[in-house]
Amino acid sequence: MKLVRLPALILSAFVVAMSVVTVAPSTVAGVSCPWMDTSHTAAQRANSLLSAMSLDDEIAMVHNSDDKWSYYGAVGHIAGNARLCIPDLVMNNAGQGVGGKQVDTTAFPAPIAQAATWDPTLEEDFGAHLGKEAWKKGTNVLLAPGLDTGRVPMNGRNFEYFGEDPYLAGVTAAAEVTGLQSQHVIATLKHYLMNDQETNRTTVSADVSERVMQEIYLPGFQAAVDAGAGSVMCSYNKVNGIYACQATKILTNDLKDAFGFSGFVMSDWRATHSTVQSANNGLDMEMGSTVGPYFTGALKTAVQHGEVPRARLDDMVFRILRTMFRVGLFDHPTPAEPSASHANAETTGEIQFARTIAEQGIVLLKDRGGLLPLTGTGQSIAVIGEAASGAGALKIYNGAGSAHVPLFGSKSDVVTGLTGITQRGATNDDSVTYSSGRSIPAAVSAAAAADVAIVFAYDVSGEGVDLPSLDLDQASGSCGKGGCTYQASRQNELIAAVAAANPDTVVVLNTGGPVLMPWAGKVSGIVEAWYPGEQMGKAIARVLFGDVDPSGKLPETFPRKMADLPTRTAARYPGVNGHATYSEGLLVGYRWYDQKQITPLYCFGDGLSYTTFDYSGLKVIKASGGGATVSFSVTNSGKRSGAEVPQVYVAFPSAAGEPPLQLKGFDKVSLAPGETRKVTIGLDSRAFSYWGASGWTVTAGKYGINVGSSSCDIRLQGQITMAG
Ligand code: BGC
Repeated sequence: MKLVRLPALILSAFVVAMSVVTVAPSTVAGVSCPWMDTSHTAAQRANSLLSAMSLDDEIAMVHNSDDKWSYYGAVGHIAGNARLCIPDLVMNNAGQGVGGKQVDTTAFPAPIAQAATWDPTLEEDFGAHLGKEAWKKGTNVLLAPGLDTGRVPMNGRNFEYFGEDPYLAGVTAAAEVTGLQSQHVIATLKHYLMNDQETNRTTVSADVSERVMQEIYLPGFQAAVDAGAGSVMCSYNKVNGIYACQATKILTNDLKDAFGFSGFVMSDWRATHSTVQSANNGLDMEMGSTVGPYFTGALKTAVQHGEVPRARLDDMVFRILRTMFRVGLFDHPTPAEPSASHANAETTGEIQFARTIAEQGIVLLKDRGGLLPLTGTGQSIAVIGEAASGAGALKIYNGAGSAHVPLFGSKSDVVTGLTGITQRGATNDDSVTYSSGRSIPAAVSAAAAADVAIVFAYDVSGEGVDLPSLDLDQASGSCGKGGCTYQASRQNELIAAVAAANPDTVVVLNTGGPVLMPWAGKVSGIVEAWYPGEQMGKAIARVLFGDVDPSGKLPETFPRKMADLPTRTAARYPGVNGHATYSEGLLVGYRWYDQKQITPLYCFGDGLSYTTFDYSGLKVIKASGGGATVSFSVTNSGKRSGAEVPQVYVAFPSAAGEPPLQLKGFDKVSLAPGETRKVTIGLDSRAFSYWGASGWTVTAGKYGINVGSSSCDIRLQGQITMAG
């Protein structure tokens, strides 16, 4: 066995490993590969394999091997090495189902809908379902979850992320990572860092202070790293003037050193801008839809000339191999081509789960007079709006761009809202009519003639372009391969006219995030269903008819008007002279509205149920390690079963200079009518820390503990005093 130049740390680990274990060589296809012995740790196996690799073998591991789509319908592929028993790395998108050129995979709800479930247990199941489908398709690196922040609600990719709060996003992503990697598929956290807008995404610099970066933009990634994420994708944009994929500060100092990330960093597709700088500053793999150009021959030459130390290349490859061993890619190889790419990955279980997670993410925002659920029999229901019937064509079952899950092959089609309501209504002897809403007078007559009108409204969003506005009339259009194009619509006028004709009007929103609702006061019901995946119609109908109690909560604030947005100046968004200045600081999402005392239309954490919940008995006690334990009881005080998401918001002493309230814990509890459950939520010392001149700091003083059903609906208040 030949010894190569290993970084000191790795080398010592290797020497220890090799001195204490006897490696039983195992043979794969007639090749001797001692590192296939599963009795050793991932690091030992990676070191053993690395020591057998030539310079060319190593270079081949750090860049894409083929042009886009040429392998397994994948967006990225690093060819395996049969001599060394290394399997292919097959990469595909992403967080709402396995997409790319794959057929016969499930279109799950968009990540924003997943975040709206506020249910990490369900999200872990989701990760496992997603991972299972990916694996069956031959994909062993999934390019999800996405963790950019909903700083700008018009961001065209917000549907791919988990909202505006770092704690909620981090908990959700960590759960997905755990589920995904349990299926021997590597999770990729993206887009690192602050790819918070699509406008000028490849050139803009996100300019932010250290404190804000640490408190708002990094914690979600840290939580998912702590959950063991194997890979991180650096983003297209610059961070404080330096391209993310060659920024030592965020790649090496924050991610690898401070967070202890042991996996590998891949670039977004063509987001690499250099060879020597990128490699030395922390990038481990160049990805794109073509091969190279930076981490191919140019990297080999740079290593040969000593511009990139061989130890750095070894570290890049070691990180990739150790992750592959740790997540099980060597020991649980995916099915071989062509069966994988042609297999139908979708099972009845997957379809059922797509419906369940969509149901759990639906947020009931308004229910005047208890119009919902629709429990009567023999009602006439007017379903209105193109989104109700044209879901497949409009692609609003999920978002557009690289994350999009196409519906072709032998795949069953989307269940539209109209189909879902018609089928479910039939079981109550309800009669359903449909009007597209293209003619507003026709929609008005349909609504006037019906007992209940249900209007479907939508926006479209996708990669590469931001929404022009949160105004529904400007945010609709269509998306195709080239991205989304926006055309004017008259959805606001349609809704107002229908509501004037029939006060029992419910609006169902299929949007990727917040929209303005000038008609909110006129309608009886508002349901935010996001982009709910292929089972959308069934999930929506089951919530409308009360088969499922709505329990989703908003992961983003819905403003009343565009002028209320924290990023309303051009300097902040989309930026001036190539710089988007994050001068709103910590005041992202609800932190802004609370601090500026601007009342939103709907608050972060809002979401109604068909039942009601009472809160009582708050106790806050100190816990070891500088944390606290918060306990209280939640009672289902209504007549139906339902689930509540109690949320814990911490208010810092004013000397800390923090926003008024910050989410630091939550739970989701299902309760039968009259049932009471004690809820206990642990807060660690980070929940009481801010980023000061010397890092994470606790200010001495009294901290408010606010427990509620939403950031605007605080039910219990307590305090705890912390020493500095
Ligand atoms: C996107 C990534 C995606 C990659 C591969 C890029 O354009 O930004 O999110 O994973 O393409 O499809």
